[in-house]
Amino acid sequence: MSWLTRSLKQSIGKKFVMAVTGLFLILFLFEHIIGNYYLFAGQEAFDKYVGLLESFGYITPILEIILGLAFIIHIIYGIWLWIGNAQATPIKYEVNGSKENASFTSRYAVYLGLLILLFLIIHLINFWYHYRFMHYNLYNTVTGLFKDPYYLAFYIFTFIVLGMHIHHGFQSAFQTLGWNHPKYFPFIKKFGTFLAIVFAVGFSIIPIYYYFVY
Ligand code: HEM
Repeated sequence: MSWLTRSLKQSIGKKFVMAVTGLFLILFLFEHIIGNYYLFAGQEAFDKYVGLLESFGYITPILEIILGLAFIIHIIYGIWLWIGNAQATPIKYEVNGSKENASFTSRYAVYLGLLILLFLIIHLINFWYHYRFMHYNLYNTVTGLFKDPYYLAFYIFTFIVLGMHIHHGFQSAFQTLGWNHPKYFPFIKKFGTFLAIVFAVGFSIIPIYYYFVY
C-alpha cells in the first residue's frame, strides 16, 4: 500500500481530506451566493451572469466535475470518519474531545451534512438538471419555485442547517490543518460563526424575497 493510500485511510488523513474539501466548498458557496444575488438585479442581469458562466466553454463542465467530486469526497469521507469513530468509541463524531465539551454542531455534524445532501439532490434536480438538460429558463424556474411555501420552508430550514454545519466545520478544518495557534484560533472560531450567519441569512433572503415581496 502506498504512503498516500495509507495516509488517506488513517483518521488524520481522512480529517485532512474533509478539511481541504470543506474549505473548497465554502469558496464555492461564496461564488454561488454572489451569483444568485444577480437575481435581485432582474432577469436580464441574471441571464447575463448565467451567460458569463456559459462563455467559459469547456472550462465550466470541468469546474462542475471538480465541484461534484469535492462534494462526493467530502460526503464519503465524512461518513467513513463517522463510522470509524462510532466503532472506536461510543462517543459519536466529534473533534474536540469529550462528549461534554463537544458542541451540538460537532456531535451531529454527520446528520447535518446528510440533511444538506438531501437538499443538494432536490436542489440539483430543480435547478441544475432542468437548466442543463431540459433547457428551462433559470430565472423563471428560481423565482417560480419560491412561490411554493413548502420550498420556502425547506430552503430556509436547510440554510439554518448549513450555517450550523459551517459553524462546526470551519474551525474544525483549521484545527485539523494545525492552524490553531492560541493567539489566532479565537479569531478563526469567531470568523467561522460569522460565515455561518452570512450564509444562513444571505441565502435565506432569496426565497423569502421571492415568496413575500416579488
Ligand atoms: C436560495 C439559495 C440558492 C439558490 C437561489 C440557488 C440557485 C441555483 C441555481 C439557479 C443553480 C443552477 C445554475 C448554476 O449552475 O449556477 C444552482 C446550482 C447549484 N447549486 Fe444552488 N442555489 C442556492 C443555494 C445553494 C446551496 C446552499 C448550495 C450548497 C449547499 C447549492 C449548491 C448548488 C450546486 C452544487 C449547484 C450545481 C453547480 C453549478 O452548476 O454551479 N446551492 N443553484
